[in-house]
Amino acid sequence: MGYKVGIVGATGAVGQEFIKLLSDRNFPVSELKLFASARSAGKQVEALGTTITIEEATETCFDGLDYVLFSANGSLSKALCPAAAKAGAVAIDNSSAFRMDPEVPLVVPEINGEAARAHKGIIANPNCSTAISLMGAAPLHKAFGLKRMFASTYQAVSGSGAEAMKELEDQLKAWSAGEPIEKSVYPHQIAFNALPHVDVFQDNGYTKEEMKLVNESRKIMGLPDLVASCTCVRVPVMRSHSISINAEFERPVSVEEARAAIAEFPGVDLIDEPSSNTYPMPLDFAGRVNCGVGRIRQDIGFDNGLAFWVVGDQLWKGAALNAIQIAEYLIK
Ligand SMILES: NC(=O)c1ccc[n+]([C@@H]2O[C@H](COP(=O)([O-])OP(=O)(O)OC[C@H]3O[C@@H](n4cnc5c(N)ncnc54)[C@H](OP(=O)(O)O)[C@@H]3O)[C@@H](O)[C@H]2O)c1
Repeated sequence: MGYKVGIVGATGAVGQEFIKLLSDRNFPVSELKLFASARSAGKQVEALGTTITIEEATETCFDGLDYVLFSANGSLSKALCPAAAKAGAVAIDNSSAFRMDPEVPLVVPEINGEAARAHKGIIANPNCSTAISLMGAAPLHKAFGLKRMFASTYQAVSGSGAEAMKELEDQLKAWSAGEPIEKSVYPHQIAFNALPHVDVFQDNGYTKEEMKLVNESRKIMGLPDLVASCTCVRVPVMRSHSISINAEFERPVSVEEARAAIAEFPGVDLIDEPSSNTYPMPLDFAGRVNCGVGRIRQDIGFDNGLAFWVVGDQLWKGAALNAIQIAEYLIK
C-alpha cells in the first residue's frame, strides 16, 4: 500500500531534495514519476532504489497520481497544477503562483496544518524565507501575540536554484586561480559579497521576495493586519537561510518564557547559549529537519519586544521538506 507520487522539476535543486526526502522519510510511495522540461526527458536517474526515466511535464502526464510535488517555475505551476488537480491528484506547489490565492491553502504544518485539509486540489508551500522566519516567530506569537515584525534575511545561493550554486563555486575557483570572475545568475559577483536584492524590485521599492515575507506571514498566521517589513539579502552561503527578526508583542515578554515557547514548539531547536558562542548557523543546518532559533534577547527598541535569529535549510523547510510534511499531514 502506498501513494503514486509525481515530482515536477525533478532535476532541479528542490526536486533532488524531494527524491532524497521521500526515501529518508520512508514516505509510502508505490510508484514515483519524475518530470522536468523537454531538455531532460529521457535522462535516467536513480531514485528510491530504482532507475527512473525523466518524462516531460505536460497537462496529460498526471493520470493516476495521488500527489504531485511541484518544483519548477511559477508559470509552469500556473499551467500544470490545475491539470494535476483535475486528474485527481493533490498538487503541492513550491512556486509563488498560488500562495496568495484565497482558494488555496498556504501551509506550514506545525503552524496551520489544519488549513491543508480545506484544499481543492492545490496546496501552496510558502516562500523559503517566510517558512523559516515563521518557525521562530509563530511560537512567540502563540506565547505573546505578535503585533509588529521587522526582518532582515541572509539568503543562501541554493535559494536561486542549481545554477546559482554552481556560479558561487565557479567564482570561488576562479578567484583562487587568479582568473576573471564571471557572473550570469546574479547581477553582481556573489563570492565575497552581499547583495541587498532578492527577486525583482517593485513600485514600492521593496523586492517581490520582501513582500512575499510580509503577505505570506499574514496569511499563514491568520493575522491580516500584521505590521511587517523586511529587507532580503543574498549572501555567499551555499545552503540554509538565516533571518534576523525584531518583533513587538501585545503582551509583556520575557527571554525565559520566549526560550520555553521555542523549546516546546515542534520543528524548532532552541540553540541559545551566548556564553559558549552557541547560536544557530547555516553550516549546521544544511540537511537538518528542524530550524534553529537563538540570540533571543529583550529588544531595547520597543516595549514588549524581542530580537531573535532563525536559521533553516531553505531547500528543506523552505521547500521540499515542508511540502512532504504537508503530504504526510494529509495521509496521517
Ligand atoms: N531553491 C530553493 O531553495 C527554493 C525554495 C523555495 C521555493 N523554491 C521554488 O521552487 C521552484 C524550483 O526551484 P529550484 O531552486 O529547484 O530551481 P532549479 O534548480 O532551477 O530547477 C528548476 C526545475 O524546473 C524544471 N523546469 C524548468 N522549466 C521547465 C518546463 N518548461 N517544464 C518542465 N520542467 C521545467 C527544470 O528542469 P530541466 O532540468 O529539464 O531544465 C528543473 O528540474 C521555483 O519555483 C522556486 O522559486 C525554491
